Amino acid sequence: MKTKFLFTSALLLASVAIFSIITAFQPKKPWVVPGKYVSMKNPVASNAESLKNGKELWIKNCQSCHGKSGHGDGPKAAQLKTDPGSFAPAEVQSQSDGALFYKISEGREDMPNFKKKIPDEEDIWSLVNYIRTLNK
Ligand code: HEC
Repeated sequence: MKTKFLFTSALLLASVAIFSIITAFQPKKPWVVPGKYVSMKNPVASNAESLKNGKELWIKNCQSCHGKSGHGDGPKAAQLKTDPGSFAPAEVQSQSDGALFYKISEGREDMPNFKKKIPDEEDIWSLVNYIRTLNK
């Protein structure tokens, strides 16, 4: 009786461990951006004014999850199901401005959509400009 219980528990624990390992190594689901956005040109020049605006919006709306320097280490990050990741690697920086604009506007799952909260498109473009400075 007791051995059977122990055996079942061990089996259960092993399954949980294997499942956790599999999910931890699962690559992120690809986030497909419609072609129209990929080729969209950023109409806002990345000048001091735009970067200042982008930084203010960032602190107010994004830092809680993405962290001060965009490393995905904001105070809310630990409660999310999806890892916000870091903005430094090429996987983010090599995306077009339009692709980042789309992701910020539309969101998915844990990443909120900001098109209502930040209704001025130029503000979102300034956020894209600011994200380009978080490449370290
Ligand atoms: C509630 C937490 C949260 C907030 C607030 C948040 N994000 Fe995110 N963000 C995420 C998560 C989680 C992901 C990863 C989503 C995924 O891959 O499914 C993400 C992904 C992104 C991506 C895509 C990165 C990539 O790998 O392609 C961009 C760009 C982005 N966020 C920008 C922003 C900006 C700009 C703001 C503020 C206006 C913001 N986020 C606010 C959680 C958040």
